Amino acid sequence: MRKIDPQTVQRILDTADIVEVVSDFVSLKRRGANYVGLCPFHSDRSPSFYVSKSKGICKCFSCGKGGSAVGFIMEHEQLSYGEALRWLAGKYGIEIKERELSAEEEQAQTERESMLAVNDFALNHFEHNIHSTADGRDIGLAYFRERGISDRSIERFHLGYALEERDALYNAATAKGYSEKYLVETGLCTRSERGGIYDRFRGRVIFPIFGLSGKVLAFGGRTLRKTKEIAKYVNSPESVIYHKSDVLYGLYQAKKAIVDHDRCLLVEGYMDVISMHQAGIEYVVASSGTALTDGQIRLIRRFTQNVTVIYDSDAAGIKASLRGIDMLLAEGLNIKVLQLPEGEDPDSFSQSHSATEVERYIKDHQTDFIRFKISILLPDTEGDPVGRSKVITDIVRSISVIPDSITRNVYIRECSRLLDVDEKVLALQVERYYKENLVKGTASQSRQDDRQQQPELEKETPPTPPNEEKTASANSVASFMRPYEKRVLRYVLKYGMAHLCDLCDEEGNTSPVNVIDYITEELAADDMTFSNSDYASVFGAARALADTTWEGDRAAHESQARAACTAALAAADDEIRRNADSTAAITAMSEAARTRINAEYETSVSNFAMLYIERRLGSSADDTVRRLTADLVSERHQLSKIHTKYSTIETEEDRLAELVPRAIYEWKDAILAWRQRTILAEIRRSGSMDPEGLRALMTRSLELQRLRAELARYLGERTISPRK
Ligand code: UTP
Ligand code: MN
Repeated sequence: MRKIDPQTVQRILDTADIVEVVSDFVSLKRRGANYVGLCPFHSDRSPSFYVSKSKGICKCFSCGKGGSAVGFIMEHEQLSYGEALRWLAGKYGIEIKERELSAEEEQAQTERESMLAVNDFALNHFEHNIHSTADGRDIGLAYFRERGISDRSIERFHLGYALEERDALYNAATAKGYSEKYLVETGLCTRSERGGIYDRFRGRVIFPIFGLSGKVLAFGGRTLRKTKEIAKYVNSPESVIYHKSDVLYGLYQAKKAIVDHDRCLLVEGYMDVISMHQAGIEYVVASSGTALTDGQIRLIRRFTQNVTVIYDSDAAGIKASLRGIDMLLAEGLNIKVLQLPEGEDPDSFSQSHSATEVERYIKDHQTDFIRFKISILLPDTEGDPVGRSKVITDIVRSISVIPDSITRNVYIRECSRLLDVDEKVLALQVERYYKENLVKGTASQSRQDDRQQQPELEKETPPTPPNEEKTASANSVASFMRPYEKRVLRYVLKYGMAHLCDLCDEEGNTSPVNVIDYITEELAADDMTFSNSDYASVFGAARALADTTWEGDRAAHESQARAACTAALAAADDEIRRNADSTAAITAMSEAARTRINAEYETSVSNFAMLYIERRLGSSADDTVRRLTADLVSERHQLSKIHTKYSTIETEEDRLAELVPRAIYEWKDAILAWRQRTILAEIRRSGSMDPEGLRALMTRSLELQRLRAELARYLGERTISPRK
């Protein structure tokens, strides 16, 4: 495998037309400047999928998915960046020039691919066994049938059977030319100390584990024996392609249903997932018996915020798994918990009830985690006040990891009612732990702003800072600054190369300043940087474009546009001369044509500048840069509409000279506000501080107050005076 050379990449990106690309999958209708259609990423009843031809991006305003042409193809076809580029090249018949991979890149690439290929072979081998060998049918297939698994489910989950032989897979694979190296690296085979080779899975039914893109990453094999002597399941080991903690069983089959229903059921076992699917409830995944990991939670979050954790009725594992719930809470997910009736697990329950019954049962019996935790933990503490207060502390800790303050309050109230503890006391405790988490950086900072496409910034009221009394931790500063930094970054992405204003020097010469340079200079002058690292890297990428490729690309575009302009003028003159009947008419008409064509030229050049950064970064190979760009650029941005007496509405673009400086100054004010807050907190805590120190703090605080007042005056005047 080779890497596509950079010029070819650029050609592909320049050629790919977002409307054409999306039209391959979605039927689009024109609506104003955009195109709309039904979103291909969730079940969409009315068209929420917008495609902007001029910006080269698409975006669903309901589920938030979308991006540039490459981003769309990556998402829709589940391809890597390189694969998506090849897909586009294929569509447009662009010949791909490749550059050699470095030896190291080459190795890593082939390593992964070879392992995936071997797994794919094994998948077919196990499936072949279960359908077309005597043992497979008599033992494997019979087992699944006995457990009530339908042929359709067997097909859907690609269930298989490993023959009861030492090296059946090994022989089949090597006969087909697969090398032993990868059979061993995927863990499908093991070489023993004495030199013999044998298959990992023998005489077991096989559950293949798929990654999000549908590739087989690993296998689980269940024994058919009842003895306790051998492990019930044998699983593929961790490897370059299989990181157990980043995989959820069944997600590949469930992801569409999860998005459609906007919820996810979390169960424990392979069999639970399959039986639930078979019963018609497809938004189910399993953590495969392990405690839930961060990686798995992030995976779920990509598809929904609503998770119901289903436990078997035996309470044994439940206590151990309560920590998993805290992790879900800390990620800001909405968690419900459900305990099944005595003696049931999701597998048995869904096999003995209809889908409607199961869904009804879930709906009626799922509870929020507070109730659940109390019901699990409290009965043990009867007549044991110390134990009881431990339980309360435990629950308070759980509540304190929830990022959203409203949700925290709801739980505090509920907890107070259920445990009959004063609400204020609980609230104080929660607050204390919450702050501790912030300082330790354990609480996940609010990530909502990136997930929701409804931008909070438009409300023009940034959130009040967390009531933070301790020294500001890096985490909380970043989340406090996030909305301000976001707004500035959005201007960089949307209008970076666009003209902002003209700068006048002492001699009275004016020079044009574009948005990104203005912002860069303002930041440099006050030594400001983005405190959110993802924003910082996107800004860095934009800056790099402006500093490297921009000049050349702009020149190229201008000369192209000029050539087009000249040709259009010539054609127009020709046309006019053939049709006009007087010299006066010729002069008038060609004057009009000239004006029109020149205006077209101007528009083309300014559009190129306007879209330069967002188009490039929206197709970046860097995941963070590409996603953030697509998100920020496609945000619906409502300007306060200005109706003049001609009832025209000004666009954001027209008001940049006012909006951009304003955004910068509000960011600066936020920094001052944060500092002031820290100092005030220090003063409040400084009971025993020497008067000298206290006075210094007061002076600092007053100084900050003065600066802020100055800024406020500036903002009030809404004038622009760019730095010289
Ligand atoms: P279960 O014992 O609940 O498995 O373990 P199950 O899938 O419901 O299987 P049946 O119903 O007994 O056939 C839950 C999950 O824990 C993992 C597997 O992923 C299993 O699906 N597990 C369990 C192992 O990895 N190894 C084991 O030995 C047992
Ligand atoms: Mn089971």
